[in-house]
Amino acid sequence: MTKEYLIAANWKMNLTTHEASILVHHLEKSLKAYRDVEVVLAPSFVHLQPLHQQIDHRKFRLAAQNAYHKDSGAFTGEVSFTMLRHLVQYVIVGHSERRLYFNESLELIRDKVAAAVRNDISPILCVGETQQERRLGETKQVLHDQITTALSNLTSEDIENVVIAYEPVWAISTFGGELAKPADVQKEINFIRSQVAELYGKAAAEKIRVLYGGSVDQHTARGYLELKECNGALVGGASLQHHKFTRIVEAAHAVARESHGQ
Ligand code: PGA
Repeated sequence: MTKEYLIAANWKMNLTTHEASILVHHLEKSLKAYRDVEVVLAPSFVHLQPLHQQIDHRKFRLAAQNAYHKDSGAFTGEVSFTMLRHLVQYVIVGHSERRLYFNESLELIRDKVAAAVRNDISPILCVGETQQERRLGETKQVLHDQITTALSNLTSEDIENVVIAYEPVWAISTFGGELAKPADVQKEINFIRSQVAELYGKAAAEKIRVLYGGSVDQHTARGYLELKECNGALVGGASLQHHKFTRIVEAAHAVARESHGQ
């Protein structure tokens, strides 16, 4: 079966509007529109509208990095999923930086996932253990709690629009950037699917897209993308440099072609 990939660029709190526009300009020149690779850019809120105008929509889709779980109301400074509805296809939810720096709880992330789905936006739900949790042997428990809570308000139809990104916190470049071994990533991705199977059945677990994130760059990407159950990557640092990100997307296209026997 041909593999299809989702490669998402998480720019985090980087780039001015001008720099974001230049980066997209370079990416538009270097990237072809591949049918087997969906390329998603997640800039900051302020860049979404200008980039929506600028991008070639055959090549790129947009994601927000966060949103608020209520649709509207007196929540000064927040941006709702409703406001993003026609601007983005995806929203990153539950990134470890939001969990750790902004104290986002399991329940808040559950409400954000539900708000995304309610507004026809696919959540990219990030899950993953910290270095300490890993050392204590708590990885599976952490993943279980994060997944079970986050998905608990969804129907089996809703689940088809959810993407899960396995991002071990210790492997994220700005948290230490220890490289995760592909074989270990494979085990956790399998575990994530088993959790989805328990909640929504085997078919849903096979269908749901699971990405890997954590120091993915032009050198490491292939090792993760070749994993049988891995549907793509969430890329932080390396997505800010067009030549690096281009090579990651090209690696995904190459692996997809190989899986097709071409
Ligand atoms: P990184 O970040 O690729 O810089 O490790 C990934 C992420 O935080 O989503």
